[in-house]
Amino acid sequence: MSNKNSSEFNFPEAELVKSGELFRNCINVVVGKGNVNADILFVGEAPGRNEDIRGEPFVGAAGKNLDKLLLSVGLSFDDIYVANILKCRPPENRDPLSEEIRAHTPWLLKQIRKMKPKVVCSLGNYATKFFLARGDVDKMSSQPGITSVHGKPREVEMNGLRFKLIPLFHPAAIIYNRTKLTPLWEEDMEIVKREIREKGNVEVKRVEEQKRLF
Ligand code: URA
Repeated sequence: MSNKNSSEFNFPEAELVKSGELFRNCINVVVGKGNVNADILFVGEAPGRNEDIRGEPFVGAAGKNLDKLLLSVGLSFDDIYVANILKCRPPENRDPLSEEIRAHTPWLLKQIRKMKPKVVCSLGNYATKFFLARGDVDKMSSQPGITSVHGKPREVEMNGLRFKLIPLFHPAAIIYNRTKLTPLWEEDMEIVKREIREKGNVEVKRVEEQKRLF
């Protein structure tokens, strides 16, 4: 059964998605999966065929690799939430178009606003360039690629949101270059885990300071 007519999708950001060609041609809207209360949000590119059929992100070959990669760093879908730049599958898995990114990302930003993750991990070039361009789609093509920015944390402020961005190689790209990219992904995830631990400590400190004040 398709979720396209779900009454949950009656808000302005979803209406933007529903007004486009991708929505008309997809089977399901792929919102996300994992723990909405997690500290880490992964953002991929777009649903593929299997994701479109199931209505869940990362269930095909890239998803199986993501499961393995998470396991290798001791994490599971309890520790992360995963969504995509696009909510609907582009035909033949072609690259997202600028107007599609403009129409679909307000919903993603709404998810970030609600979830308040400590760290956003952009998976691969599309998601990384979107955040590096602070959501300005026209500036995406002039951003550096994933090979030069993976594992490098930076503070991002956009649309009233503030979070730490840590770009990671896309699990689909790792399938084609396992020997070289798997260890890099694992090292980058250690940086993500460290960031979460440090932010956790900062918050504990702030609470203690508040306790002293009152
Ligand atoms: N690749 C992505 O970027 N997202 C998915 O949901 C599946 C594959």
